Amino acid sequence: MGKYSKILELGKRRGFFWPSFEIYGGVSGYYDFGPLGARLKRNIEDLWREFFVERHSEFIVEIETPVIMPQPVFEASGHLEHFTDYMVQCRKCGRIYRADHLIEQHVETSGLEGKSAEELTSIIREAGIKCPECGGELGNVRKFNLLMQTNIGPYKGSIGYGRPEAAQGMFINFKRVYDQMGGRLPLGIAQIGRVMRNEISPRQGLIRVREFTIMELELFYDPKNPSCPLLSEVENRELKIVVASDVEKGRWNPVKFTVREAVERGVIKTEWNAYFMAIAVEFLQALGVPSEMQVFIDKPPAELAHYSAQTFDQLVKLEDFGWVEVSGHAYRTDYDLYAHIKKSGVDLRAFRKFDKPIVKERVKVRLNMSVAGRIFKGKAKMLREELSKMDPEDVMRALESNGWIEVLGEKLDRNLVIVEKTVEKVHGERFIPHVAEPSFGAERLFYVTLEYAYREVDGRIVLSLPKRIAPIKVAVFPLVARDGLPEKAREVYSLLKRSGLEVVYDDTAFIGRLYARADEIGIPIAITIDYDTLKDDTVTLRDRDTWRQVRTPIHKLPSLLREYIEGRRGFEELGTPFSKQG
Ligand code: GAP
Repeated sequence: MGKYSKILELGKRRGFFWPSFEIYGGVSGYYDFGPLGARLKRNIEDLWREFFVERHSEFIVEIETPVIMPQPVFEASGHLEHFTDYMVQCRKCGRIYRADHLIEQHVETSGLEGKSAEELTSIIREAGIKCPECGGELGNVRKFNLLMQTNIGPYKGSIGYGRPEAAQGMFINFKRVYDQMGGRLPLGIAQIGRVMRNEISPRQGLIRVREFTIMELELFYDPKNPSCPLLSEVENRELKIVVASDVEKGRWNPVKFTVREAVERGVIKTEWNAYFMAIAVEFLQALGVPSEMQVFIDKPPAELAHYSAQTFDQLVKLEDFGWVEVSGHAYRTDYDLYAHIKKSGVDLRAFRKFDKPIVKERVKVRLNMSVAGRIFKGKAKMLREELSKMDPEDVMRALESNGWIEVLGEKLDRNLVIVEKTVEKVHGERFIPHVAEPSFGAERLFYVTLEYAYREVDGRIVLSLPKRIAPIKVAVFPLVARDGLPEKAREVYSLLKRSGLEVVYDDTAFIGRLYARADEIGIPIAITIDYDTLKDDTVTLRDRDTWRQVRTPIHKLPSLLREYIEGRRGFEELGTPFSKQG
């Protein structure tokens, strides 16, 4: 059995995750999270929040915006036109496949992402690829838009789409949040929420689904001041990168750069992206993925999303699926804000204050109504209005070169146009910020975390989840279910529960079996109440990963366990070594 199948089996049996809608035959690309899975996923999201939002709370804030968005949002963002994959249909049985995936299954190839429909069709024909199900002839490759469409309200034509990324919610709200945060840059706006993508052929279980939770941050900064003040904190950390020229040649050649080198050599275009890539490595390590099992791929220009000037995909090695993308780090420039300003007509620009105000001469032009009224009668008002809309500099230039300016078919000479020059102090200028975006998929991280935690020891499953994200932190067991031990164990359970720890109580099996059950769902610490506990109020703590044991007084448990879970204390520091039960 492959690793994915083993983890899925555990997921179904113990309540982590399983395919949705099973009683109706299932629909591919949808997964449910069970009692333990929902907690684990929430803990992963909270850890992301801690790394990407709370750590930077002076300038990064979190918002929440709707999942369904009206059509103009995606017309502006470019998703209606560009958020597509290529599909191909069997002419005989009608089955539909994602063209690039189908080609990859049959031919050793790379760099399909930039190819056109015609090029993909040619590859299919030349390689003689047929329908994998019935062997039938395949049709021509066509584009398929991945947005999930719906109707907003009962009105026809009021089309909405499930958002494929949370980002657009941040772009639309940029100006409002920027003002609320005091009009300062850099400003990060983050969001964790559900997104939908009508994937053509979801595969690899949780890795490619049609609805998932995205954890996304848009970092807005002034392109005239692009430096990241936090870069020095991570500048010596290593990033393993396969550069775009190697990716283009299909060469897997990860090169180690320090964060500082990657920026100085221009491998990473923005300091902000470089900074968050370093944080991304640390975040994956906190989920249990060693840095050797992580790599960044610099996407070649032909493979970039329509909004991106540079993107690095962060990949993690998985046993069954090879290298899998877990996050994308895009330099989105001013693409999205510019697009929304253009489409909505609303000014979403930021303000750059000058060090010293600049004195500027301003020219204003207006119609001399006392003269114009006599000449043009009722039309004078229209002329006044039209003139006021014109650029004064253009009017001045026309008057200087021709002696007149034409407005609504009338020639207005110097007697008709009053030119006023004023001097103004200008304190700053408006501009469109640039954006660096780290974006993570929670489902992929959830699976990656499970895979890296999964071990088999003496034929038993042990889930060595990082303590901080384990869905349950402590289990309390009586050594035997009699002689007052269950009552004492319940007291300890209540004490720990009141202290805010995620704790369970169980007395439904022999102690060895209870330990095995706890290991299988990743509970870091098991506490056993035995006969000595009744005499001296001490308990045994057992470490999930080493099965070592220590003895500790009950009253110390809440603070000791919290320090242990938060990584401030090692297991051996929780009490005195104990080996009675082996
Ligand atoms: N706003 C940028 C953006 O959406 P993306 O690379 O398309 O970028 C971000 O998606 C992350 O979401 C990916 O790195 C991946 O972890 C996750 N992701 C993308 N498509 C997914 C899918 N169909 N199923 C599960 N996770 C997915």
